[in-house]
Amino acid sequence: MVIDELKKNYIPRHVAVIMDGNGRWAELHGNDRIYGHQQGVDAVRSIVEGAGEAGVEYLTLYAFSTENWDRPKNEVDALMSLLVNAIVHETDNLNEKNVKMLAIGGISSLPADVQLKLAEAVESTSQNTGLRLVLALSYSGRWEILEAVKKIVRKAVSGEITENQINECEFATHLSTSAIPDPELLIRTSGEYRISNFLLWQIAYSEFYFTPILWPDFRKENLFDAIVDFQHRERRFGKTSEQIRS
Ligand code: IPE
Ligand code: IPE
Ligand code: MG
Repeated sequence: MVIDELKKNYIPRHVAVIMDGNGRWAELHGNDRIYGHQQGVDAVRSIVEGAGEAGVEYLTLYAFSTENWDRPKNEVDALMSLLVNAIVHETDNLNEKNVKMLAIGGISSLPADVQLKLAEAVESTSQNTGLRLVLALSYSGRWEILEAVKKIVRKAVSGEITENQINECEFATHLSTSAIPDPELLIRTSGEYRISNFLLWQIAYSEFYFTPILWPDFRKENLFDAIVDFQHRERRFGKTSEQIRS
């Protein structure tokens, strides 16, 4: 799919991606899993560019889940150093493309050097006004919901909030995505049909797009395919088709 085939007036504001399949890609190419993760960086570069070109406002990438800490230590270490390298090497490119980088997740559990480089990149791109690139790092949807609950409980205990004031809108302001609209489109690569603890609250009404493409092979043209597919769907939000069309 090429960008000209997108309906320009109906681009999802927020696209979230579960970037999966690096390990299988590496195995297919007779290499180790780390190599697959390294190749995944090219895919990230391509879709950040494509999302910007298409006019997507927010692109959230699931880069490392809380559960991923349970992988073998050498893989976790390699992923962390790859992250530092990618952040350092891509910052100029993000600035050139007017991309603002943000991070969500348990950032304080990341190694100190990752936290430092991440903070530098967030600061360096903070004035950019184009695509917001949100990296989900050491992220888990249940963790995020529990964190929000704890914040609300503290406010309730101190009398800052009452039970009646807690509604969906109020709850969402306590999530790490409080400044970000819910994703209209969620993409998962590698032929897996699951959520793996990603954005559980925020995807209540997202459209899902699953593709067998392994993450290192994913390019902006594949993102455009997903957006075109999204553009052909009828989002009903509980209503009938008739109600939506009238
Ligand atoms: C996604 O690829 C990257 C991360 C989860 C960090 P995987 O590493 O999960 O690749 P597969 O699923 O084993 O192929
Ligand atoms: C989900 O992929 C997490 C990321 C893409 C960062 P996984 O490969 O870790 O998911 P599961 O464990 O197979 O569900
Ligand atoms: Mg996987």
